[in-house]
Amino acid sequence: MKDLAGRTAVITGGASGLGLAMARRARELGMRIVLADVEEEPLLRAVAELRAAGAEVLGERVDVSDDAQVARFADRVFAATGEVGLLVNNAGVGGGGYVWETGEEEWSWVLGVNLMGVVHGIRHFVPRMLGAERSGRTSHIVNTASIAGWIAPPLLGAYNVSKHAVVALSETLFHDLRSAGSGIGVTLLSPAFVPTGIARSERNRPSALAEAGPLTGSQERARESVERAVAGGRIGADEVARMTFEAVEEGRFYVFTHPQILPSVRERFEAALSGGAPADPYGQRPDRRPGRSG
Ligand SMILES: NC(=O)c1ccc[n+]([C@@H]2O[C@H](COP(=O)([O-])OP(=O)(O)OC[C@H]3O[C@@H](n4cnc5c(N)ncnc54)[C@H](O)[C@@H]3O)[C@@H](O)[C@H]2O)c1
Repeated sequence: MKDLAGRTAVITGGASGLGLAMARRARELGMRIVLADVEEEPLLRAVAELRAAGAEVLGERVDVSDDAQVARFADRVFAATGEVGLLVNNAGVGGGGYVWETGEEEWSWVLGVNLMGVVHGIRHFVPRMLGAERSGRTSHIVNTASIAGWIAPPLLGAYNVSKHAVVALSETLFHDLRSAGSGIGVTLLSPAFVPTGIARSERNRPSALAEAGPLTGSQERARESVERAVAGGRIGADEVARMTFEAVEEGRFYVFTHPQILPSVRERFEAALSGGAPADPYGQRPDRRPGRSG
């Protein structure tokens, strides 16, 4: 989609990391910006920063895992701006640990934000984007998945499942739009490790979904390895934002920020098609493999 200037970009998880970097890029391109985030202070700071840089910007405290909150948010966005040119379903959280040690609370939290957050964004924004398209205004949707939507590394069960689901959801959304005769664009962003706040996701965990007991060895190991990998990410959030907007402008669906990992994706599918055991997700990056835990 060309001509982003003057259109409205709605970005969930926009107070930090990739979301904030995308908001900055949207500002550079002359877009009006609406940020949704569950974390109040960083949200206020992000709004102030973008406003000081000359953007027309709104910020709303929204928990994307809550369908009713997203419904009210969408109502307010369309009332305030009249249109949405770009919807970025980006808010996300990550936990970890062996699958059999991952509690109900963690599944609810991670799937609630990473998967249902995207579902809610689609349900409450897309019908009105389709309406606008019928009156001649097209638009575009970006969903943030992860390379964990394409390979399934150990210790990240709930996160892997949530991101595989976002890949399936986004491809289905693309096909559904085309089958409905819509040309609304879709871009699926699949980053690998990028230095952001994702390794500190616990800060946003609702107390009702707190871990029941102390962390197990595998949960600690997962946190340490994600922290290390995220801190060591060599591509910055600004670069990911630049790649994403380039794909939006060119109407491209898939964005893989770390092409060096793609051989692992190929090995995964080749192993499946050849009937072998699952390929080693860390085959290309053995240095990223978390050590064994009890
Ligand atoms: N950083 C990476 O290495 C990496 C890699 C692959 C995918 N991702 C994905 O990128 C997206 C952005 O994450 P990030 O890396 O910028 O991390 P981040 O923690 O810096 O940003 C995530 C934002 O989402 C917000 N958020 C969390 N729960 C929310 C909720 N319930 N409702 C609304 N907002 C909520 C947080 O407050 C935060 O501002 C996520 O979907 C993440 O899974 C990140």
